[in-house]
Amino acid sequence: MSSESPAPLRRLLGYMSEEPVGYAVGALLTLGYAAVFQLIPLTVRSIVAALDTPEVSAPIWRLVVISVVFAVFRMSSRIVMFRVGRQIEFRIRNDYFSHLQRLPQSFFHRHRTGDLMSRAVNDINSIRLFLGMGLLNVIQTPVLYVGALGVMLTIDPWMTMIVFGPYPLVIFVSRVFGRRMFAANLAGQEQLGRVSTLVHENASGVLVVRSYSLEERESARFEKENRTLFRRMMRVGFINISMQSSIGVLPATASALVLLAGGSAVTSGRLSQEDLWVFWIYIGMLIFPTMMLGFVISIAQRGFAALQRLGEILDTVPSIRDRPDRVDLEEIRGSVCLRGLSFRYPGARPEDALHEVSLEVAVGETIGIVGPVGSGKSTLVSVVPRLLEVPDGQVLIDGIDVNRVPIVLLRSSIAMVPQDSFLFSTSLTENIRFGKPDASMEEIREAARRAHVLEDVEEFPDGFETQVGERGVTLSGGQRQRIALARALILDPAILILDDSLSSVDHATEKAILDDLASAAAGRTCFIVAHRISAVRNANRIVVLEAGRVTAVGSHEELKTADGFYARLWERQKLEDEISSMQGSRVAGREDVA
Ligand SMILES: Nc1ncnc2c1ncn2[C@@H]1O[C@H](COP(=O)(O)OP(=O)(O)O)[C@@H](O)[C@H]1O
Ligand SMILES: [Mg+2]
Repeated sequence: MSSESPAPLRRLLGYMSEEPVGYAVGALLTLGYAAVFQLIPLTVRSIVAALDTPEVSAPIWRLVVISVVFAVFRMSSRIVMFRVGRQIEFRIRNDYFSHLQRLPQSFFHRHRTGDLMSRAVNDINSIRLFLGMGLLNVIQTPVLYVGALGVMLTIDPWMTMIVFGPYPLVIFVSRVFGRRMFAANLAGQEQLGRVSTLVHENASGVLVVRSYSLEERESARFEKENRTLFRRMMRVGFINISMQSSIGVLPATASALVLLAGGSAVTSGRLSQEDLWVFWIYIGMLIFPTMMLGFVISIAQRGFAALQRLGEILDTVPSIRDRPDRVDLEEIRGSVCLRGLSFRYPGARPEDALHEVSLEVAVGETIGIVGPVGSGKSTLVSVVPRLLEVPDGQVLIDGIDVNRVPIVLLRSSIAMVPQDSFLFSTSLTENIRFGKPDASMEEIREAARRAHVLEDVEEFPDGFETQVGERGVTLSGGQRQRIALARALILDPAILILDDSLSSVDHATEKAILDDLASAAAGRTCFIVAHRISAVRNANRIVVLEAGRVTAVGSHEELKTADGFYARLWERQKLEDEISSMQGSRVAGREDVA
């Protein structure tokens, strides 16, 4: 796999070449920056040369103007380069996720989805850092150096060597410290996360802690974690200070050398006083870009490693992709036709997961699907967005073989919410607009509202900016499922598939969601896989699957009286509901008495 995959650098250049204007402007600004950079010491030289004459005010004014222009170039080159970096990050992220969506499901059996995703988020962050700050410095610093070298060499090669002598050391030292700093920072952040989780847990579980008299144990645990946090943060500070002081020594040494060697050169008349100033000022001006270069080396290393890892996944050829005989369909309206569909998982037991399933679903119809565990419900709904490969002629969307519908159209028009949806370790906003990165805040709110999770989100202190995952809030199962639903609804899909995706949502909310969906679903085809009758009883038709075969199709009214799986399920759930409502009333009764 890796032998044919483009090297990270090639991949990066490929992305960069898609932003020619941005990089051209960035490069011009950088050149401007580097040129103006050299003007500063040169102007100081003119000032020093004219110091005792009345003409001195002209170069002083020039210096003021130059400093302003310098600041403008510096700012604008940064803005342009960071922007381009963001744009490329956006592309990489899109490519990555759309690639993941095209991968066959067998891929996800080999790689744990959660791993893939969190890795992707971290890796893409590393790449972003590299593309913005990293690339800026990688391009800018050498240009600065070359310019500075040119100016200094024409003045005095010997002094140039003295100025540049310590810089390799600066790069080396900042690199060493940069690496430590990164590790120390990471450790500090992680510990901070741990401590805040602990605070959060104890705050929300304060009654539990009290009622079990766990205060002491919890305090001890907290103190231990907090002490670790203190140590780690001290370490960050320590590294920071030692880095600054040891790097500070180097330009100080260079300055001393310049003064020493330069002073005697001035006395012997080999060097003019104003030229000495040029070297003196360069030392101060070059120190910061040089330090940055040191940091950037580590950033670049991490960025490249991240690109390499993403590359490995991007280069896994998706076995599900557009075929040459693709039909250039503009949109999907939402009718689905299964014709004698049989499916067997490769390498699985020699039984069909689906056996000769036939079903015609009209645009806008809602189909409920019930059946025992392992009866093929998930398999059935997975063939509609072509997550599994099926032979030609067995699955048609709007009358066209699913294998010939453009993948992009399939993925953007058919949204499937699996039972255990994965949320990314990023903000809720990002999670919801995952399939539609340009969605506005209104659209995000609207999707959240329709998924009945808006109120929950608004109760979080950070609202939609709340972070999910290890370093963020812990969402309940039902909240996760509703966020996942919002992620699907924001696509406004022609076909919506809920694969047991509201199982952790409480009854009342589930009902409210489904009612809303039904009222808004005019024209939208829905497949609802569920274990609870309540989720499917209002469907136009309900399909009963058993051992991969359709054993009954009909409305709730028809099926509940016909003898079979559905009627048994109905009876059982009715009984359960009665029992729980009896228990409920008994509890209520007791409360009344009390
Ligand atoms: N990736 C897989 N590889 C092999 N067998 C699978 C795979 N996924 C599901 N199956 C099998 O296919 C059958 C149908 O599974 P599934 O569609 O997930 O059922 P349901 O969603 O109704 O519980 C089951 O026997 C299951 O074990
Ligand atoms: Mg299933």
